[in-house]
Amino acid sequence: MTTGSNVHLLPQTNQLRALHTLIRDRNAPREDFVFYSRRIIRLLLESALDLLPFDKHEVTTPVGETYHGLKFASKLCAVPVIRAGESMEAELRDVHPGIRIGKILIQRDKTTKLPRLYYSHLPDDIARRHVLLLEPMLATGGSALAAVGVLTDQGVAERDIVLVNFLASPEGLRTVSERHPDLKIITSSIEDRLNENAYMVPGIGDFGDRYFGTVDSGAA
Ligand code: URA
Repeated sequence: MTTGSNVHLLPQTNQLRALHTLIRDRNAPREDFVFYSRRIIRLLLESALDLLPFDKHEVTTPVGETYHGLKFASKLCAVPVIRAGESMEAELRDVHPGIRIGKILIQRDKTTKLPRLYYSHLPDDIARRHVLLLEPMLATGGSALAAVGVLTDQGVAERDIVLVNFLASPEGLRTVSERHPDLKIITSSIEDRLNENAYMVPGIGDFGDRYFGTVDSGAA
């Protein structure tokens, strides 16, 4: 599952490829797009949690024996990058109820074309937490870099961040992992390349528009 030191690609099983096939179809109805995207998001989140540190922890089983187990070693926080990152929130709350959730809003400035931070709201103690940074689309990597910068400015160690990503371009992965070699990235697919409009190819189109229904797909 590991490609490069800190880039983790989900195992490309037939099931995962079938899920990707359903959502990449340009004619997929929106409710199918949301449903099957959420199944992939669930797989990503379960694997992201596995990248966090664990401590040994023993419990006594109902038959009076000791189970030599593990428990999470650190406090956790999730930070979705608005808007696409919010698509991962519901699944995250299902696997980790009560998780702290910060927010970051970064958009590309229309004039400079550079990512610009518009808003962030994070827990006060974020520097002492491990952070799941939810950024589903890693195209040029610009907004992910800006989001990581917001976290490290708040004192979060690079090695304590797991970037949870749905689709990545090779260029975006390279940009982020060269700048932040200790950051972990988990993704469900590495695409071929970016096209001239900075969309990934073969890609999925505009993930946020398709997930939140802000384009007319012809469906309800
Ligand atoms: N954002 C998207 O939603 N899709 C891409 O292909 C690139 C950026």
